[in-house]
Amino acid sequence: MRKKLAAGNWKMNGLQSSLGEIAALAELIGQPNCDVLLCTPATLINSAAQVADKSAINIGAQDCHANETGAHTGEISADMIVDAGGKYVILGHSERRADHRESDACVRDKTRAAWAAGLTAIVCVGETLEQREASNTLDIIGGQLATSIPDKATAETLVVAYEPVWAIGTGLTPTLDQIGEVHDFIRARLERRFGEGVGRSVRVLYGGSMNPKNAAEIATVSNVDGGLVGGASLKAADFAQIVDAL
Ligand code: G3H
Repeated sequence: MRKKLAAGNWKMNGLQSSLGEIAALAELIGQPNCDVLLCTPATLINSAAQVADKSAINIGAQDCHANETGAHTGEISADMIVDAGGKYVILGHSERRADHRESDACVRDKTRAAWAAGLTAIVCVGETLEQREASNTLDIIGGQLATSIPDKATAETLVVAYEPVWAIGTGLTPTLDQIGEVHDFIRARLERRFGEGVGRSVRVLYGGSMNPKNAAEIATVSNVDGGLVGGASLKAADFAQIVDAL
């Protein structure tokens, strides 16, 4: 039985003054039935981890570099995330794939680095609207899964997030059937590649305009093991409702 995961991605939002939302969230959720994670901007990881200490909230990052150290101005390594108190890292988010031209191979290398440092990687996959309209969704997702995820994944080190690009920040969501089709496909691919034990244990999150109103319904879909939530994770009151709904 997979424990659900409510993962928030603050993206490029949040100042020190936002740490109060984390304290408020901890208060609102208490000891929830699902795992809870907030991936803050890098500048907040350390202070967020301190605020979240002894609460049910884990803290994570939104990206890491593939190398351990070196001359990579402006980058942060997986070790730095661990050092700051992070436990997870989001990799291959569509915004990074688009804005920074991150390829599947780049995401795979970053995932290896995350694992070497002891982080759980949340590897994101998802199709654009054009790809869906051309009936290429499953081919695209299959290719992303095959190349973005290194060998030797485990249920502890890997989470997959299905995020249709056209649903992110738009208020649009796929139908429950569309979500189910992709999640079942991802599950089958994970089982085929990593074996039934690991393949059935890795959590697969849905992301894209998840909010307090639709979270419970989406969470009923087969092979949906939680959510990767952007906008609705910024306010403790909203995210707490999603945590409750999963
Ligand atoms: O990482 C989170 C996703 O991109 C979803 O963002 O909930 O604002 O649509 P959103």
